[in-house]
Amino acid sequence: MYKIQMLNKIANCGLELLPKENYDISTEEANPDGILVRSANMLETELPKNLKAIARAGAGVNNIPIEKCTEKGIVVFNTPGANSTGVKELVIAALLLSSRKITKGMEWVQTLKGKGDEIPKLVEKGKSQFEGPEIKSKKIGVIGLGAIGVMVANDCISLGMEVMGYDPYISVKAAWGLSSSVIRANSLEHLLSTCDYITIHVPLTKETKNTLDKEKFEIMKKGVRIINLARGGLVSNQDLLEAIGNGTVACYVTDFPEEELLGVEEIIAIPHLGASTPESEENCAIMAANQLKDYLETGMIKNS
Ligand code: MLT
Repeated sequence: MYKIQMLNKIANCGLELLPKENYDISTEEANPDGILVRSANMLETELPKNLKAIARAGAGVNNIPIEKCTEKGIVVFNTPGANSTGVKELVIAALLLSSRKITKGMEWVQTLKGKGDEIPKLVEKGKSQFEGPEIKSKKIGVIGLGAIGVMVANDCISLGMEVMGYDPYISVKAAWGLSSSVIRANSLEHLLSTCDYITIHVPLTKETKNTLDKEKFEIMKKGVRIINLARGGLVSNQDLLEAIGNGTVACYVTDFPEEELLGVEEIIAIPHLGASTPESEENCAIMAANQLKDYLETGMIKNS
């Protein structure tokens, strides 16, 4: 019998792959063979003595103590690609939200409740305050050309944008499935200094922390719009607020709300909804459960 601790609930279709005859799954298990986790923070957790594998149902592993696991020979899986469509679709929504004042307009229209027949006239008069530019023919820089970055870049081409790509580790030519219309940035600075929109899709690591900081904001175009649905720590909040204050950043959309970012007119905060689709949740749960099962039962390591 394998003991599994489930730190976050994963979709039932994943759990069904771990039958009750062979798997004892509980949220409390003290000494599990395997852990299933979504975004629970395990960084300060004491690693259980018999633990053999952790399956993270999602892409980012910044909530897992990777170094400690490596020292102890614990295998860490993630589920690359399983939620890419969910995240990518939210990025496209965020891109449009950053340009058109949809959220502000939606809040305002609610204030018209009770105005009855006056509403059409008030809308006609009030809507000019919510004007925002079209994205077609504008230039977007995609930082990070993994599964999500590539999908975002390709969709932006379909939306008629000029797309520039940059990845600290993969060349634009090597990015699998990337449209040949994507322009290669010579450097991150090249991308930052020439794009009207910037979207970031790299994992949060020691090297990528604060990828966008004061120095980087200083070279951006005035009025740039930034989308960060990857991880909050990729952008320095303090430097971002300064860049908003001096007019460099016109809008910042984040999926990682933090205290200092709330209540700022130019910031749209989303409650980490990238992978919150039934499809993404099911894909991640199936992949994570299979990874644990294969590893515990046969020793097979398959990170896909
Ligand atoms: C990911 O890392 O896969 C996404 O941020 C969604 C999630 O955390 O589950």
